[in-house]
Amino acid sequence: MSFDHFEYKGVKFAHKVHSEKSISYVENELKVLDDDIFNVTYPKSGTNWMIEILSLIKHNGDATVCQSISSYERAPWQETIDFPEQEKKLTQPRIISSHLPHHLFAKSFFKSKAKIIYTMRNPKDIIVSLFHFTKILYIFKESENFQQLIEDFVNGNALYGSWFDHVKGWMQMKDDSRFFFITYEELLKDPRGSVVKLCKFLGKQLDDAQIDSVVKHSSFNSMKENKMSNWTQLTSDILDHAKGSFLRKGVSGDWKTHFTVAQSEYFDKIYQEKMKDLNMSFSWEQF
Ligand code: A3P
Repeated sequence: MSFDHFEYKGVKFAHKVHSEKSISYVENELKVLDDDIFNVTYPKSGTNWMIEILSLIKHNGDATVCQSISSYERAPWQETIDFPEQEKKLTQPRIISSHLPHHLFAKSFFKSKAKIIYTMRNPKDIIVSLFHFTKILYIFKESENFQQLIEDFVNGNALYGSWFDHVKGWMQMKDDSRFFFITYEELLKDPRGSVVKLCKFLGKQLDDAQIDSVVKHSSFNSMKENKMSNWTQLTSDILDHAKGSFLRKGVSGDWKTHFTVAQSEYFDKIYQEKMKDLNMSFSWEQF
C-alpha cells in the first residue's frame, strides 16, 4: 500500500499528507516569525535527530518536553495538511520542519530574521535509508528493487524531488547569516561540538551540563527508547511497524553493505557530473 503522488511545480508530493492547498499555504500565506527556527532537510538526512537536538536546546537540555510530546508535534512539517492546526499549538521560538526545496519555501521567510538549519547526508546512505523506509512508511512508493531506487533517486523521480536540486537550491543561501548547514556525518563524529555550534548560531547560552544533556538525550539509543521520538505512536495506516523501525541503524557508510561496485561507480559518475558546478566539497566525496 502507498499513497498516490501528485506534482506541484515539478515536485512530487503524497496525497492524504500533502495537498496543493497545504503547499501553497506555506509558500504564500504562512506568517514567519522572526524567532522561528526551520529544520530543513531532504528526507532521511537526519530530520528527526535535528528535531530532538533543537527541542532539547530550546528547553536548556531538559528532556521533559521530548518525553511527553511527539517529535512531529514539537516540530511539525509545514507542508503537510495537518500543519495549520499543529501550528496553533507551537510555542515560541517555534521549531518547524520541512522537506521543501528552496523554490517552494515560505516567501515570508525571505523577508524575516528567522533561521534555517539545513542538515545534509551522504546521498548513498540516504538511498539505503530510503530503501528500508519506503517499505514501512506508506507516503513513499516502494521501488521494485534497489537498482530501481538508485535510478529513481538520480533522476529526481522521488517524493520531494531531486536530492541534487534540493542541495543546490538550498546552498544558494550558504553565505546568508540566517542559514546554518551541517552534515549527518559531522553530527555522528562530533555530537557535542555540533551542539555547541548550533547553540552559537541560535544565540542560545547553555552551560556544560545542559549541553551534555542535549547530547545524551538526542543519542540514537535514547531516541530509540523514547516513544515520543521513535515513531512507534504512528498508527498502522501510516507506518507498518511489523516490517521495521524508523530508527533503523543510525550509522554512516551503510551504503557499502548495499551498493555493488557497479552501482557505486554508476552513482559516483552521476554525482560528480551533477555536483560539479556547486564548488563545494563534502566528507563523503572520496571517489
Ligand atoms: P537509517 O535509516 O540509516 O538508520 P530522517 O529523520 O530525516 O527521516 O532520517 C532518518 C535517519 O536518521 C535514519 O537513518 C535514522 O536511524 C537516523 N537517525 C535518527 N536519529 C538518529 C540519531 N540520534 N543518531 C543517529 N542517527 C539517527
